[in-house]
Amino acid sequence: MYQTILTELKDGIFTITINRPDKLNALNKDVIQELGSAMDEVYSNAEIKSVLLTGSGEKAFVAGADISEFTSLDAAGGAALAAKGQQLVFDKIENCPKPVVAAVNGFSLGGGCELAMSCHFRTASENAKFGQPEVNLGLIPGYGGTQRLTQLIGKGKAMELMMTGDMIGAEEAKSLGLVNHVFPASELIAASEKILSKINTKAPIAVQQVIACVNEAARGLEGGFANEISRFGACFATADMREGTTAFMEKRKAVFTGK
Ligand code: COA
Repeated sequence: MYQTILTELKDGIFTITINRPDKLNALNKDVIQELGSAMDEVYSNAEIKSVLLTGSGEKAFVAGADISEFTSLDAAGGAALAAKGQQLVFDKIENCPKPVVAAVNGFSLGGGCELAMSCHFRTASENAKFGQPEVNLGLIPGYGGTQRLTQLIGKGKAMELMMTGDMIGAEEAKSLGLVNHVFPASELIAASEKILSKINTKAPIAVQQVIACVNEAARGLEGGFANEISRFGACFATADMREGTTAFMEKRKAVFTGK
């Protein structure tokens, strides 16, 4: 059904693999369009509990937006490309009510680093490399990178990475808080699936509320504390809250239904 991505649903985990390995999985118009459609599927398919986003091949997660599509653009065209991508894909991932994790399996540069950062958190293979090299092209990040990198690693480090265009390795990315875990390449997918499998046993509505609250905190949204209070309250109206608290009192494992 898709031409540039592969999708697979297994045990509630929907794996999306960007599949242009000969171009290091660079994000061209087709990839953006298809990632947008795949995310629509995530929102609408109740069998999908969480998402793992990765890249095909051993070399790259995503080596950036497809630079060959940039050469013919003027100012309005550049802005339109960024706006369309953010709306179709990056915002949809960040605001997804189901957990989306990036398993970064190699180069994660420019739009690739931005794609990983739009996910709720990131794991990486030992050979992963992160960077925002847009200044080398006379550009800046346009898929949310200036905002999300600053949120994730702080102003000083974000400034340096985006001004130098330097790449950093997986361990440094972990020490900066850009990735949560580093695994050997051969274990990356299984280890990431294990984390998602654990999350998939938790109450889905509560997980959804965590995502919404944390996104607001990261955006520095005024009203985050008040919204936490109302979302906390809303959880009391769910069957899963009754099940979770009852199961604890009865010393048994809770079985959640997402209701
Ligand atoms: N857009 C379009 N094509 C890209 C690409 C991108 N962002 N990144 C890699 N490719 C293509 C290369 O043009 C090459 O295609 P070809 O075989 O048809 O010539 C192929 O992918 C393999 O890349 P190559 O450069 O030969 O691999 P390498 O191992 O020598 O270098 C990188 C790897 C990641 C260092 C290098 O590809 C690179 O710098 N890519 C661009 C990174 C970037 O600036 N991203 C930000 C874009 S906003």
